[in-house]
Amino acid sequence: MARKLRLGVNVDHVATIRNARGGRHPDPVRAAKLAIAAGADGITAHLREDRRHIRDDDMARLKAEIDKPLNFEMAATNDMVAAALAIRPHAVCIVPEKRTERTTEGGLDAVKHQAQLAPAVHDLKHAGIRVSLFIAPHPAQIEAAVALGAPVIELHTGAWCDALSERRTTEAAAEWEMLRVGALLAQGLGLEVHAGHGLDYASAETIAALPQIMELNIGHFLIGEAVFEGLDATIKMMRAAMDRGRAKVKA
Ligand code: PXP
Repeated sequence: MARKLRLGVNVDHVATIRNARGGRHPDPVRAAKLAIAAGADGITAHLREDRRHIRDDDMARLKAEIDKPLNFEMAATNDMVAAALAIRPHAVCIVPEKRTERTTEGGLDAVKHQAQLAPAVHDLKHAGIRVSLFIAPHPAQIEAAVALGAPVIELHTGAWCDALSERRTTEAAAEWEMLRVGALLAQGLGLEVHAGHGLDYASAETIAALPQIMELNIGHFLIGEAVFEGLDATIKMMRAAMDRGRAKVKA
């Protein structure tokens, strides 16, 4: 039986709702604690340059108040590396960031930005933080992650999930194949493989059947669905979907 797939719950959009009005409600740290009580294995939060959702004090409170690993998503800038070194999360996931994007639209270009990424990966690793690179499942990107010395990659599932939800079946099949082959390649090269972006119950169940993948990071769908079903029930449904998918892996 393949190892249990970890669920990292991204609480950014609890902060998005809070910030729509200002003030303190709803509190992403409260959501993180509820998510953990419901079965999340870790909490993910993205400190964006423009602080549009998670803010510095949210990160500090998450680190201080939750009892599961904190995965700090950030761009590879000097300011963000300094912020991560001050917070000392369990993990950092380096993502590309554009001010004008609504969400993290594509993976990092680890080939092109090797020179910018290298010192960030080095300094974070040196501080004992598990570093992951959020990349598309392309062989050149996976090999660049190895060259940079990142121990973990997170495969960007957004293109696959978009194709699935828009019923572009040929593209969905092609994107799936890239994820499948990319996960195999990455594990073969010694990387720990995670995945995330745009996942819902059905896509999480499908990707859970790739035994190389050790962790899924999921946010928008869970927080949106929690409006209807509550966070506790939503996390439990996601956990069950992931367990069903993982059970399809042959021993
Ligand atoms: N993983 C990474 C690296 C991300 O940047 C995001 C989006 O913030 C997610 C996972 C979660 O994506 P979603 O909110 O679409 O589930």
